Amino acid sequence: MIVADQLTKVYENGVVGLDHLCLEVKPGEIFCMLGANGAGKTTTINLFLNFIEPTSGRALINGIDVNKDPLEAKKYVAYLGEVVQLYGNFTAIQNLDFFTKLSGRRDVSKKEYRDCLRRVGLPEWAFDTKVKKFSKGMRQRVGLAIVMMKDTPAIILDEPTSGLDPRGAQDFLDMLKVLRDEGKAIFMSTHDIFRAKEVGDRVGIMKQGRLVMVLDREELEEVDLEKVYLEYMRGWGVD
Ligand SMILES: Nc1ncnc2c1ncn2[C@@H]1O[C@H](COP(=O)(O)OP(=O)(O)OP(=O)(O)O)[C@@H](O)[C@H]1O
Ligand SMILES: [Mg+2]
Repeated sequence: MIVADQLTKVYENGVVGLDHLCLEVKPGEIFCMLGANGAGKTTTINLFLNFIEPTSGRALINGIDVNKDPLEAKKYVAYLGEVVQLYGNFTAIQNLDFFTKLSGRRDVSKKEYRDCLRRVGLPEWAFDTKVKKFSKGMRQRVGLAIVMMKDTPAIILDEPTSGLDPRGAQDFLDMLKVLRDEGKAIFMSTHDIFRAKEVGDRVGIMKQGRLVMVLDREELEEVDLEKVYLEYMRGWGVD
């Protein structure tokens, strides 16, 4: 569903942001990407969303090359970053309505919006409150509601729980698991090793633009992920 085929990005200044990434995230799977600052996680995500052009290789969503047919590819993927962009003077419901319509759905009732906001755990009093009064955790919940209303088979998240308190982060990841169980393919970048291990069906480690390791569920049970990660960061285990 989310596929990288020899995907490479060399920036104009010569920095190799991503180096021949090959990866497939299947329906019903959460793939967590770990990596130090500058490892290439956001570069990967920006390529999947066609925010930037690949130097070579292909990024595919639902079999569609996102660079060749961006409008078609966008129908199948929803995105949430670390800081969700919402209209401060709109209420939660109004934001949800605006972004849902923007994504092409026009047949949604007020009840569906309320049900969705309930599902992401936004308190009832906040539904009709302007989001400029919201905490970061509440804003991320609205962001996830927007992703859920779009109802795409692929979901891409760039550090979605960074800055959330432990309870907020756990709630968020529990909701991702529900979406995974509904059959979504989910790609998420994170710095949270502990939660990557808990939520990821597979966990990748990126270093200097290269995917240096991928661990599946079984391997994650066996290894000390933090130790493996730190060893890679120190330069062991590479090549
Ligand atoms: N527009 C750009 N022009 C030049 N170099 C860039 C650009 N964007 C990113 N880079 C470089 O590409 C590399 C990968 O950056 P990227 O933002 O993908 O890392 P990241 O893994 O998302 O890091 P972080 O954990 O800090 O978010 C870094 O060396 C970065 O400096
Ligand atoms: Mg990043």
